[in-house]
Formats: sequence, C-alpha cells, structure tokens
Amino acid sequence: MEQDVPTTPVGNRHLLAIDQVISGTAGAPDETAAIVAALTAMRTLPHVDAAAFHEVDRATGRAVLRCVQDLPPDVRTRFGALTIAAAPFHNVLVQRQPIFIDDIRLLGPGAEAVAPFASLAMLPVVASDDIVGALSVYSLRGHDWSHEDQLVLPAAGRELGAAIGRLASDRALSDRRLPLHDLFDSVDELFMVAAADGRILWVNGAMERRLGLGGVDWHRMTFLDFHPAGRRIEAAAAIAGLLETGEGTAHLPLLGHDGEEIEVETSVRWGTWDGRRVLFIVSRERVGRRNGDRGDTSVLQMALDTVTAVAQFHDPTTASHSRRVAEVATLIAGRLDLSEDRLAGLRLAAGLHDVGKVAIPAEVLLRPGRLSSAELTLIRTHPEAGSRIVREASTPWPLAEIILQHHERLDGSGYPRGLRAADICPEARILAVADVFEAMSAARPYRGAHTVEEALHELRAGSGRRYDPDVVDAVEELDRDGRLPGDMSGSPSAIAGTEPTARRPPLDRV
Ligand SMILES: [Fe+2]
Repeated sequence: MEQDVPTTPVGNRHLLAIDQVISGTAGAPDETAAIVAALTAMRTLPHVDAAAFHEVDRATGRAVLRCVQDLPPDVRTRFGALTIAAAPFHNVLVQRQPIFIDDIRLLGPGAEAVAPFASLAMLPVVASDDIVGALSVYSLRGHDWSHEDQLVLPAAGRELGAAIGRLASDRALSDRRLPLHDLFDSVDELFMVAAADGRILWVNGAMERRLGLGGVDWHRMTFLDFHPAGRRIEAAAAIAGLLETGEGTAHLPLLGHDGEEIEVETSVRWGTWDGRRVLFIVSRERVGRRNGDRGDTSVLQMALDTVTAVAQFHDPTTASHSRRVAEVATLIAGRLDLSEDRLAGLRLAAGLHDVGKVAIPAEVLLRPGRLSSAELTLIRTHPEAGSRIVREASTPWPLAEIILQHHERLDGSGYPRGLRAADICPEARILAVADVFEAMSAARPYRGAHTVEEALHELRAGSGRRYDPDVVDAVEELDRDGRLPGDMSGSPSAIAGTEPTARRPPLDRV
C-alpha cells in the first residue's frame, strides 16, 4: 500500500527504537558504544534481522565493516568492505541519501554478498558535516520498507552521526588546555567543565586530588557520577535549578575517593568553548567555613576568573605571574599568622592584582627596552584599573583596596596614591613583596630574569623603607628553610647572566 498508514503496534515499535537510539547514543562514552547502541536499537524492529555499521576509510576509498549485530560471519567477510564510489553505495556514502532495497536481487552481482538476506536498507551517518559511515539493516524476508521505516531509519543514522560528532569534538576539547587551565588549577575550589549533556570534559587539580580521580578515566563519567548514588536526583534537580535562575549556589555532597560525603557549595553556569556550550561547575568545601555570611567565593572566583581570562589574552604572562605571586604571598602569610579568612582574601587579590593591565595596550606592556615616561605613567594606572574592575564584584574582602595598594611603598614612594606605612593594609604589604620577588625571579618578554638571590637583595635593601620589614624577614626565613619556589622562570640564572643586574630597571613594570 502506497500510504502505509502506521498501525499502533508498529508505530510504537518505531518510536521505541528511535527513542532507544537517542538515549543510547547520548549516554555513550565513546564512538563504539554509540554505534553498538544504534545497532541494538535497530535490531528491536521486528522486520530487522541484522544490523551493521561500515566506517568510511578515505585513504582506501572504501567503507569497512566496524560493528555488527547478528550478521553471519560469511556475510561479514563478503560484505566487509564497500567501494565508496560503486553504486548503490555511492548514493549513501557520496550523495548522503538513504537507500531502501526491497528485493536484494536489485543489487545485481552484489546480491550474493548479503545472502541469505532478502532486503536491506542503508543510511548515511554524517558527523560534523563529514560522512563517517553507513548504518545498514537487513531482513531475511523480502520487505516493503514502510513509510515509517523511511522516516525512522534515516533518523537513526542522523542521531548516530550527531553522537559521533559530539564525541569527537568532546575528545578534541578535553585534549586542549583551557585558557584558564593554570589559573583554575591553582585554586582550592573544585572545578570542572562538562558538556551540555553532563559528560565531564575537564577537572582541575583540586578536584582530582579531593575526589581521588588520579588514574580514573573521567571522560566516561558525567558530573552526576561525582555525587553519592542516593543523591544524584537531588543533585541533578539542584543544578538544573541553578541553571534556570543563572545565580546562587546549592549545598550538595560530592563523593570522596574513600566513599565519604564531602559537603560542598556548588555554583554552575553556562559558558562557551570553541563555539560549544559547556557547563562550568565550581564547588567549594563547606568544612572550615567559619562565617556563613562571608559571601559566595565560588561565584566570585568565577566572575573574577572571567576577568582574568580577558587579561591573559592580553598579556599571556599575567596569569602565571599572578598564580606564583599568590603562591608566594600564601607562604609569607603563613609565617605571619594572617588569619585564615584574610588569607583567603589575599589569595584572591594576589590572583587578580594585575588584572588592570587589560586597560593598557599590549604593545606597551610587552615591548622590550626602556619605557618612555608617558608609557610608564600609563602602566602605573593598572592598580586603579584593576581595583575598578574588581569593585564591580560583590566580595567579602577588601580586594579592590588590596589591588589598588599593591604598588604602594612604606616611604610613600609608591603609586598611585603615594600612601605611607600606616595607611597600607597588611595584605597589600605582603602582596607588594611577593609581587616584587616573583617579578624579579621570572623572565619577562621585555627582560630576562634575575636570580632568587638578586630578588632577595632588592627586598633586603628596601626592608623598612619600601617594604614591610616583617614581610621581608618572612621571605628570608622561607628562603633559609628552602620553602621558596626557587626556579620560577625555567632558567633564571642563565638569562640573568646575559646582562648585568645593575643596568636593568628592576621594578618599573612589576
Ligand atoms: Fe602590578
């Protein structure tokens, strides 16, 4: 019958089969699993006795059998490789049109290759605009491929192609370094990036350590796998709620490597990477949080990280410099008994202290050689620019003020306000010393590195005048104890040896 009005049972079968293709391929961890899911779903159709997937091999101009369901071994051998350009496969593999062959004898001499099957349908599988293969189904009986078949089978091919495309691009994505990789790796928050369907694309070092993910292939997991089994529905609902409102945090448990439940405050938001929509999920442990109204540092961290990302594109050294300054500042603060709460603020401020450089043209920022006084004046606006950027974020710490003060010196010789000792906050005094130490120990595009010893000499020389003596003492102690990150630039002494220290303006561009 021409119109092939679907009867209910057949209609349901087709619906179920396509539903099975969609859910099976969407949750597949890799291409093979997606193909197997599609073939398995096709086999649930009553008139389909076998299914197969041929993969296009451009090098040989052939499509080679990759996965089968119930295809007899001799057919696998005979039908194992198709010539792409030969009719009728040309229609599928070049023109990307499905073919439905009711009577296998129409294949001509090729008919013997698929005996004992009497009919076959073959569907193109296109991933990211590339033909990657053909999905084929076989019937032992001569079969009039129905109107529903002609709708559902190509749809199965399209779903499989979409899944293969997604998996390939997820793999490419997770192999790339995120632009914020270093920065996110340096924070204490547990940070992950997930594809729109929840599959994990990247986790940071803190998350890997806390959840014991070393050696675990998290590419095969979704973010829900990181929650205890009994609370995944709750986690999914909470995360969906956060995405809907686009703000706030949820209190959720994560599953630690030894099965313990780790209470975290999670925030999540949409972002883009390589033109694809991804989820950024940040969790902060609630243990040790002493004051409930200290604000949401996860959300804050994300907002500020976005700003830093912009700065990093502008000046690629800023992010790594800031990370190391945060490291040194944390070590110093440890020696000075700075409270845990103030330390958290200092770490954030240190990570962001040069974000205002985004306001300065890169050609000035990165140009080797001495700067003109006009250029220096321009560069010296960065603490104010940074402080203005950070002021926009609602933060529980005086980040804007710390950033504004990071170039102030005790004797009033600093900038932008020429503050004197009593007016400079403790965090800014620590940050100033950490900043000078790191900036001198690492190479920059416009100059080589000094040695750690030279950096310490500068600090010692300025102790009590430019720099807080207690902070300088703390750095010296750290040095004596071998706690300072010594080789901060790769090979500072080699670069430092190329030019006498005295001739270099050491700190004009910290
Ligand atoms: Fe700076």
